[in-house]
Amino acid sequence: MPHQLLKGKKGIIFGALDERSIAWKTALAAVAEGAEIVLTNAPVALRMGKINELATLCNAPVIGADATSITDIDNLMQKSMEIFGGKMDFILHSIGMSPNVRKTISYTNTNYENFLKTLDISALSLHRVLQSAMKADALNEWASVVGLSYIAAQRSFPGYNDMADAKAMLESVARSFGYHYGFAKKVRVNTISQSPTPTTAGSGVSGFDVFYEYAEKMSPLGNATAEECANYTIMMFSDYTRMVTMQNLFHDGGFSFTGVSQALVEELQKAKASE
Ligand SMILES: NC(=O)c1ccc[n+]([C@@H]2O[C@H](COP(=O)([O-])OP(=O)(O)OC[C@H]3O[C@@H](n4cnc5c(N)ncnc54)[C@H](O)[C@@H]3O)[C@@H](O)[C@H]2O)c1
Repeated sequence: MPHQLLKGKKGIIFGALDERSIAWKTALAAVAEGAEIVLTNAPVALRMGKINELATLCNAPVIGADATSITDIDNLMQKSMEIFGGKMDFILHSIGMSPNVRKTISYTNTNYENFLKTLDISALSLHRVLQSAMKADALNEWASVVGLSYIAAQRSFPGYNDMADAKAMLESVARSFGYHYGFAKKVRVNTISQSPTPTTAGSGVSGFDVFYEYAEKMSPLGNATAEECANYTIMMFSDYTRMVTMQNLFHDGGFSFTGVSQALVEELQKAKASE
């Protein structure tokens, strides 16, 4: 049910790998709401993912950029402005990767080179994107930048490993840069803290199936889907949220403020009774 909420707006969507990606759903929703977009992902993802299918669906150009390379990001910013013929109104940062998670190296026995890569790819990249946009004066006043986070930034989820530290840093960068960009250009920066979602990044986390089920049972509204996250992001890109900045916004069906649910209590009672 599109409402042309982004009519006339232009922006960059990072991180669409395949049709399960949150960025994929957001790209489709943005275009349905009247936006023009540029799609981007790491060169390796362009080779292995399905972004060209999405580009056709969205009538959008694809520009490769590794989020750890300032040269790539500066180039993306310049080329996008050339394509749009001017400044932009929104950016989705939908990027996450941990070599330690991938190689199942535990948090307490971490590999520090991997750890630095996790922080660089998943958190510092937001700083890089914002700095590059600010230097190029690539964003219109009231433009909206959204990063995607997870509640492991506030509470511990052991399988989430060093991504928890990366998300804490991501949320902090949104707050800190949001302050500077707000005063300088009235640009807003927020993170959305999404429910566990079955995507490539999500299902790579050890024990994903179990904490997906757990979150589903804990959340009064159930887990939020990737489509629902895309819709929330569209609202954050729209003019209806002009005064929201520097926030971490929970989009998790109520999980973050639930202590325990009756369904889980009953499940534990049943398990105890059968001991
Ligand atoms: N899936 C979940 O359970 C969940 C929950 C909360 C938040 N998130 C966050 O949502 C965002 C999107 O993840 P997703 O779940 O859609 O999974 P996804 O695997 O579809 O997307 C992750 C993207 O990051 C990109 N990426 C990795 N390294 C990169 C680099 N060096 N440069 C540029 N791009 C790079 C990948 O190519 C991929 O497109 C991530 O920040 C993730 O942490 C996911």
